[in-house]
Amino acid sequence: MADASRVIAMHQSRFGAQGVVFQAPGRVNLIGEHTDTSEGHVMPAALDLRTLSVLSPRTDSTANIYSENFGEQVSIDLQKLPSSPRQHWSDYPTGVLWSLRQRGITCGGFDLTLAGNVPSGSGLSSSASVEVAVAVAVLDRAGAQLAKPEIAKLCQFAENNFVGAQSGIMDQFASCCGVEGHALLLDCRTLDYEALPLPEQVLLVICNSMVKHSLSDGGEYNERRAEVEEGVRILKRYYPEMQTLRDVNEEQLQASKNEMPEHVFLRCLHVVTENRRVLQAAEALREHDFSSFGKRMYEAHNSMRDNYAASCAETDTLVELAAKQPGCYGARITGAGFGGCTVNLVAAEHSEKFVENLRAGYFQATGIHAEIYLSRASDGAGPLLRN
Ligand code: GLA
Repeated sequence: MADASRVIAMHQSRFGAQGVVFQAPGRVNLIGEHTDTSEGHVMPAALDLRTLSVLSPRTDSTANIYSENFGEQVSIDLQKLPSSPRQHWSDYPTGVLWSLRQRGITCGGFDLTLAGNVPSGSGLSSSASVEVAVAVAVLDRAGAQLAKPEIAKLCQFAENNFVGAQSGIMDQFASCCGVEGHALLLDCRTLDYEALPLPEQVLLVICNSMVKHSLSDGGEYNERRAEVEEGVRILKRYYPEMQTLRDVNEEQLQASKNEMPEHVFLRCLHVVTENRRVLQAAEALREHDFSSFGKRMYEAHNSMRDNYAASCAETDTLVELAAKQPGCYGARITGAGFGGCTVNLVAAEHSEKFVENLRAGYFQATGIHAEIYLSRASDGAGPLLRN
């Protein structure tokens, strides 16, 4: 975890005040990719990679926000909040302040330090962890209380309507509601969730391809969403009662195949089959059937690659290498895609060798040094300690 005492000392020396410390984790998604935006099923776990926020109050209406990761400080007049992004890291904290204001939550000025160890642009939700770390700190400053799912929605609102990425609820929800030692089986329509224990005989090994993606400019993420929406418009002609792809099965989709462009069909096929895979994987996890869980992971990866067109050569290489390793049950690209990380389900006793082999194999194939994280599933956001 990012070292709290170091971040507290940094805040103290920059702003001359002790602060209250909060934390919000990144997440890894075990299975269920690009289904949250169709009100489907996902299975993320919060990580012990996280963003820390340290806040101390000011007497005026200025918010000074320092990011250690970017080595930069911004000042915002809380009475004149910007209403549009400027393609800058501060769009995320500013978006959260804007979103709080939309809900009628305001507060006096403050100094805020942000520091974290969630690698950015890697599919582990560094931006959601920043949003949630800001939200919990500022809610505390405002003396306001919101249930965790509401905090998640507020941060998603910031990302959708201020930053401009049409992302779903998964990342912010996992960052808010994570449960130590568990994955969350989340229904993104009702926000009902079940914490599924992750047994100790398996580990989640996360391999960073070091190929960065960016969601903040919308880009390919929003493009894929628009393609899915096009499919939904066509399907609605035949199934007028449907709201999202959550409401159609594979048979119904296949029956409309000839009515839509091929790439639109494939995007929809990914979402519809992925929803099924999440529920199958959940069943497998409940039964400690890691082979069948892993099989769904490989299928999910192939569908991300072939149907949703959101993988890349480097993450495909990581999955192919993983599949050859003893003790590896399953592997897949995780998060939005277009680069970033893979998640691997590995028998604990094989994990050391697995890491070694993946590192060496990936370097040999690509010339890139992968970063590999072995993280426990952690609790969601909250106060860390009070001074
Ligand atoms: C990003 C988004 C999420 C989700 C994933 C893909 O992480 O923020 O809402 O759509 O991509 O599953």
